Amino acid sequence: VTNLVNEGSLATASAPPLDSSIKDFVDGGAEYERTLRENRSAFEDIRFSPRVLVDVSVIDTSTTILGVGVAAPIFTAPTGSHRLLHPQGELATAAGTATAGLGYIASTASSISLEEIATVAGPARWFQLYCFRERDVTGDLVRRATAAGYTALVVTVDAPVLGLRLRDLHNQFNPTELVRWVNLDPYGVSRLPDDTSGAAISRYFVDQIDASLTIDDLAWLCSFGLPVIVKGINRADDAAAVCDAGVAGVYVSNHGGRQLDRTVASLHALPRVVEAVAGRVPVIVDGGVRDGGDVAAACALGAAVAAVGRPVLWAATGGATGVADHLSELCGQLRRSMALLGAPSINELTPDLIMSKEPR
Ligand SMILES: Cc1cc2nc3c(=O)[nH]c(=O)nc-3n(C[C@H](O)[C@H](O)[C@H](O)COP(=O)(O)O)c2cc1C
Repeated sequence: VTNLVNEGSLATASAPPLDSSIKDFVDGGAEYERTLRENRSAFEDIRFSPRVLVDVSVIDTSTTILGVGVAAPIFTAPTGSHRLLHPQGELATAAGTATAGLGYIASTASSISLEEIATVAGPARWFQLYCFRERDVTGDLVRRATAAGYTALVVTVDAPVLGLRLRDLHNQFNPTELVRWVNLDPYGVSRLPDDTSGAAISRYFVDQIDASLTIDDLAWLCSFGLPVIVKGINRADDAAAVCDAGVAGVYVSNHGGRQLDRTVASLHALPRVVEAVAGRVPVIVDGGVRDGGDVAAACALGAAVAAVGRPVLWAATGGATGVADHLSELCGQLRRSMALLGAPSINELTPDLIMSKEPR
């Protein structure tokens, strides 16, 4: 687990060796991976200014998000195709997350159906939605997520087209040669086009994903009744606009540096989004969150939840136990950080604890 946190690469996971193109698919970012690197360096540059002589004999990492309690403000971010990492796929990652008492966001591109995932996920379970050109597909996914007991929709808006993922192109990688995006079986679009150039996911997005989505469509998505969280916000004006449109949460993300390279690091986008949201709805952030200190920093800068993408996939090579152990370790690190910061509860993680170096 320590290796996973420190090294930050699938190459260090202790489970059976994985195909290098799978490692690249997970670890890689778009273009020259500037945003991928800067998501991390933004956290690396954080310096704390801890309080002392605070009673930290009892530390409470728990919090409530959209009315549901979790052991810590940590969620598993939505990532697809988990069966690339472990035969149990999302059953392992969702069960492991539930064991750690944390929240789980199931991806549209899951390799286990959203209904099966729901049987093992904990109470804080959200469904990540890609909006399909075919409105009936999108609507049916929302209906199914509601019926399966997901408590929020996380609508991803930073992928109208796919980012240029050079590693996947180089490796001619097509994940659905290995797994199916089974949520999409009923609509006949669970496999990527037969494309050996490595551009299969990119072609799929062009064919299937609705690149015409605008803020006006949020009302339609909200009309299904589940709280809607918009994932992929980086700007204050967008954050304010989606709040005005009635969403229940704003999710700061650059897709782990996999979409537009040179997008500002998530941690640097966070404060301006938090200011624009002005407490109206919770703000979620992901991108480079690797240890408990990162979670503490994100919360101090105004995030209600920090979500973790790749580390859960690295840990998934150890199945549900690997995921539970890794996330529990993350919670333990958060607890220790809070004690040393003089912040015994989550709402005592405040901006005055942070002294950032200047962004690079
Ligand atoms: C392998 C992989 C698959 C992903 N699939 C999705 C997806 O299906 N939907 C989505 O909204 N984001 C997806 N993401 C982005 C994550 O939700 C998240 O924004 C990102 O991984 C966070 O950064 P981190 O990996 O540095 O923690 C994916 C990321 C990875 C690494």
